[in-house]
Amino acid sequence: MSESRVRRPRRFLVCEPRHFAVQYAINPWMNPDRPVDVDLAQEQWQALIGAYRAHGHTVESVEPVPGLPDMVFSANAAFVVDGRVFGSLFHAAERRPESVHYDTWFKAAGYDVHRPESVSEGEGDLVWTGRYVLAGTGFRTTREAHREAQEFLGHPVIGLTLVDPYFYHLDTALFVLDDDNVCYYPEAFSAGSREVLRRLFPDAVLATREDAMAFGLNSVSDGRNVFIAPRAEALAGALADHGYVPVPVDLSEFHKAGGGIKCCTQEIR
Ligand code: ARG
Repeated sequence: MSESRVRRPRRFLVCEPRHFAVQYAINPWMNPDRPVDVDLAQEQWQALIGAYRAHGHTVESVEPVPGLPDMVFSANAAFVVDGRVFGSLFHAAERRPESVHYDTWFKAAGYDVHRPESVSEGEGDLVWTGRYVLAGTGFRTTREAHREAQEFLGHPVIGLTLVDPYFYHLDTALFVLDDDNVCYYPEAFSAGSREVLRRLFPDAVLATREDAMAFGLNSVSDGRNVFIAPRAEALAGALADHGYVPVPVDLSEFHKAGGGIKCCTQEIR
């Protein structure tokens, strides 16, 4: 069945974890008293970049800035569809200075950046399905930003409410497999949002809390290969049963900051 799954080459934007650290706590995963091993983080991150390139994807990077330890989570910096860049306004004061550095990269690459007026954390909460945008709210990105994104992008934006603080960004609870399907952890969503997801994706691959806590939903799919945390074993098995090819990449050091594979990856479309 995996013969029928088709990989589409992607263009990814990343940021090297040279200055990665956990210096403040803005989500339940973060504990500044628990040190991160920056050398191990670098190794893990290089393995992710290597896996993307080995599967034919293009990877470009933004220069990391000292004093911005979460800048490695490039997914949060913008949401790009049709070459339109919907920039970010971070919820936490500690992360707000990241935006200008990403905006500089986008401008140099030939893109105009729309700066949202309301809190919006890029692909952390805005997820492109191929036809419309799924947009998370509850912890970071606001409803007002959903409205702004729809107005700017001209694509329908469907709001989903997150209810579990461990899954504070939509990309920790759901990822897109291909143009037809998604994978998610239902309990991360409000009852109404769960019903919306059921109606939109009746054949979705559902994950358990264990998979979600292992950052299994913070995955990147190219339509065939799914770059996924190795501890999300049950989920990797379910994906294989559906014809996808799990590619395990361990970013355990980044879990200490509440991030994983998808958080370290922004797609430019
Ligand atoms: N420490 C970062 C924060 O709390 C982690 C961001 C993870 N990124 C993501 N796309 N979920 O903002």
